[in-house]
Amino acid sequence: MTKTKVAVLISGRGSNMEALVRAAQDPACPFEIVLVVSNKPEAGGLATAQAAGVEAVAIGQREFAKDREAHERAINAVLRARGIQVVALAGYMRILTPFLVNAWEGRMLNIHPSLLPKYPGLDTHGRALQAGEVEAGCTVHLVTAGVDEGPVLGQARVSILPGDTEHSLSDRVLEQEHRLYVAVLAAFCRDLAGV
Ligand code: GAR
Repeated sequence: MTKTKVAVLISGRGSNMEALVRAAQDPACPFEIVLVVSNKPEAGGLATAQAAGVEAVAIGQREFAKDREAHERAINAVLRARGIQVVALAGYMRILTPFLVNAWEGRMLNIHPSLLPKYPGLDTHGRALQAGEVEAGCTVHLVTAGVDEGPVLGQARVSILPGDTEHSLSDRVLEQEHRLYVAVLAAFCRDLAGV
């Protein structure tokens, strides 16, 4: 089986990236994680990826000053050089410019810790608790120009329990994120390969 070459973009801990890397170790998995890129050189996920034998590259923003597109062009050059077919954003905490969105239209996925269209942006769990929601969850969607707005590819739900805090809720949602991202990315790559 030819596996789809996936790059994961991170900014921090990289637990979703790690879940994807682990899933890809199964010979039946339709994707391989060939590259991890972080916009933060200090991201803990870089070492996690390296330890798993995946190439991990930091492309920091600082040297590009305020030129966000130049930063994305540098990222895109590495993605193209590695023959990447699909990009998975996993806790990549920088809003993209139209350059990278357009370059990967239909081939860039993101995971977000809410049941979109509810609670796009930051502080999703805090806002869900504040609003008295009875359920929360996570969404994998295609990336389009609007932040957290692209077509939904899959969602997982969790109940909000009495006494839940942002911490307890985010832990429970994160467990679901790891499963959901693996399942949705696998289905997406199978579709792409026509199998
Ligand atoms: C995850 O909860 C992910 O859904 C969220 O950041 C966390 C990253 O954790 N992403 C966003 O909020 C994007 N808007 P991880 O680095 O352990 O995967």
